[in-house]
Amino acid sequence: MGLIGCGNLGSAMLTRWIANGADPHLIKVVDNHPERITQFNMKSSALEDLSGVDVLVLAVKPWNIVEVLQRIKIEPDTVVVSMAAGVSLSKLAKALPAKQPICRVMPNIGVKLGLGVLAIAFNSYVQSSHKLSVKEILEPLGKTIELKEKDFNAVTALAGSGPAFVSLILESLMMGGVAGGLSSETAKFLALETVNTTLELIESGLHFDELRFLVSSPAGTTVAGLEVLEKDGVRGSIIQSIKAASSRAEELGQEPAGID
Ligand SMILES: NC(=O)c1ccc[n+]([C@@H]2O[C@H](COP(=O)([O-])OP(=O)(O)OC[C@H]3O[C@@H](n4cnc5c(N)ncnc54)[C@H](OP(=O)(O)O)[C@@H]3O)[C@@H](O)[C@H]2O)c1
Repeated sequence: MGLIGCGNLGSAMLTRWIANGADPHLIKVVDNHPERITQFNMKSSALEDLSGVDVLVLAVKPWNIVEVLQRIKIEPDTVVVSMAAGVSLSKLAKALPAKQPICRVMPNIGVKLGLGVLAIAFNSYVQSSHKLSVKEILEPLGKTIELKEKDFNAVTALAGSGPAFVSLILESLMMGGVAGGLSSETAKFLALETVNTTLELIESGLHFDELRFLVSSPAGTTVAGLEVLEKDGVRGSIIQSIKAASSRAEELGQEPAGID
C-alpha cells in the first residue's frame, strides 16, 4: 500500500498499521518532511514512485489533494482512499484518470487509539475485491460504516465533532459532582464510570427511555434532575448543535479546498 501525508492523521494510521503487524517495508510513504517517516525506521518514497500499490491512502490537507493527484502516476486498479474532509468523490475523480476506483473516508479522532469510527463511501468503479482491501486497511483504525456520500455532513457533525460535544457534557457532569462537594478527581472518576455503565446497558439492549424509567423512582432524585434538563431544553440544544455542525460541514465542503 501507499500513504501520502504523514502528519497528524497519517502518522497515527501508520502507528496503528505497524502495531497491527503490517510490514513497514511493504508500505510506501511520502511526505514533505522525511523525518516524519524516518521516525518509524522507514525509508521515504517519492510521489513519482508509487507503482505497484494496490491501495493508496491520501492524508494531506484538502487544499493539497488536487496537486498531489495530478503529480502521481497511478495504475488503473489502484484504489485511491481519501481522508480529506469535505473533498467529494466527484472532485477526486476529476483529478484522476477516468474510471479510477475511489473511496472517500471520514475518520474521527478515535483512529489514534484504533477506536475510531470511519464512514466510507465508494465510487461506482470500486469492485468487491477493492472493498475488501480497503476494509482490511481501515480495520486496525476502528469501526467502519459504509454510507452514501450525502450522509457525510451528518457523520462529520456526529462522529467527527461529537467527541468535543461529549467531552463538554462529561466535564459538566464532573463539575456537577464538584458542586455537590466531591473532589474533582472523585467526580471525574464517577462521571467516566457512569458513562461507561450507561453505554454497557444501552449496548446490552436497553432502549434509552427504558433506562431512564429504570432509574426514575417516583418523586425521586432522577425525576428531579430530568425535569431541569427538559425545562432548560438540553435535548433540543444538543440536537441543534449537531444540526449546526452539519450545516457548517456542508458550507465548508462547498469551498474549493474542502473542510479543515
Ligand atoms: N487530523 C485529524 O484528526 C483528521 C480527522 C479527519 C480528517 N482528517 C483529514 O486528514 C487529512 C490530513 O490531516 P492532518 O491533520 O493529518 O494534516 P497534516 O498534519 O498537515 O499532515 C499532512 C502532511 O502531508 C504533507 N504534504 C502536503 N502536501 C504534500 C505533498 N505534495 N507531498 C508530500 N507530502 C505532502 C504535509 O506537509 P506540509 O506540512 O509541508 O504541508 C504534512 O506533513 C486532511 O485532509 C484532513 O481533512 C484529519
